[in-house]
Amino acid sequence: MCILICMFFHSNTINKIMQNYSQAWKKQEDNHKKFRSQLSSSCSGFDKAIITQANTPVGSKFSYDGGKSSYLVSPEVFSTFTKEHPFSNKTWDTCAVVGNGGILTDSRCGERIDSAQFVMRCNLPPLGNSYAKHVGVKTDLVTANPTIFMEKYESLMRRRRPFVESLHIYSSSLLLLPALALRQYIPVCMRAIYSIEDFGSPMRPVFFNPEYMQKLTAFWRAKGLRSGRLSTGIIMASIALEVCENVHLYGFWPFDNHPYGLYDLTNHYYDDRKAKSVHAMPTEFGLLMGLHKQGVLKLHLGDCQ
Ligand code: CTP
Repeated sequence: MCILICMFFHSNTINKIMQNYSQAWKKQEDNHKKFRSQLSSSCSGFDKAIITQANTPVGSKFSYDGGKSSYLVSPEVFSTFTKEHPFSNKTWDTCAVVGNGGILTDSRCGERIDSAQFVMRCNLPPLGNSYAKHVGVKTDLVTANPTIFMEKYESLMRRRRPFVESLHIYSSSLLLLPALALRQYIPVCMRAIYSIEDFGSPMRPVFFNPEYMQKLTAFWRAKGLRSGRLSTGIIMASIALEVCENVHLYGFWPFDNHPYGLYDLTNHYYDDRKAKSVHAMPTEFGLLMGLHKQGVLKLHLGDCQ
């Protein structure tokens, strides 16, 4: 009985979501320009999204827990900041932002993703072998949540070679770390950076700027997103909207059933670990769908070939 009722419920929900979705998408230049300029004037991701030696001098102060604790940038940490903002004076023609949704499983989107000039991925996802055909391999920027270092690599307190070897698949991409988002992230992120340097990895670690994150949170809040924390996916999409002419999103579908086949999906294309409750993924998805409808970005749902 539940099977029938549940299927009816899922198909109703998904049909409602899909009413707003059109495969025949066309970029609306005016809407794209307007949204990009709103984002730029509110958040300045172009030259503020990433910490640099120019925008964050030694002694800069970051506050945590509503001001209960703080951190002053030390010369040692400062020396790990990139000198120049990687996006300044640069725009890319086409960017692919790859979320980790199970919707990518068997999607055959790999080639299309890899054809983008700049490819952004989230949370050091597995690539290669059986995944390549569906998610691609090209990576220009990949984020890493420090909890990955803690859970998978024993906080990098022991042998670090396995961690550095796991980065080979991302070749010389930028590794974007929220090192200054929480005070306790700083030491583990420093160990990650030193491991990358000591083992000669070509990856280029850079830090998210907490000030940019606050501005971006306020930006989306004003549009109705009241989650505890923005998801990595919407942060990457926001950066892409400032630095890319054409933004394509893949792997964004925070629902349990496939939009076309309605069959069950895992949360990720590589496992079924559930989304964190601090995020409001369906609300985020609704906002991204709105941008798709306005021709600001293209959300890819379903298979690619
Ligand atoms: N995503 C999605 N649908 C899913 C899974 C993920 O839209 N079923 C998107 C989300 O925007 C998410 C991104 O893909 O932020 C990366 O996925 P994941 O690694 O699962 O991110 P989380 O661990 O949930 O969280 P965080 O955003 O805190 O890194």
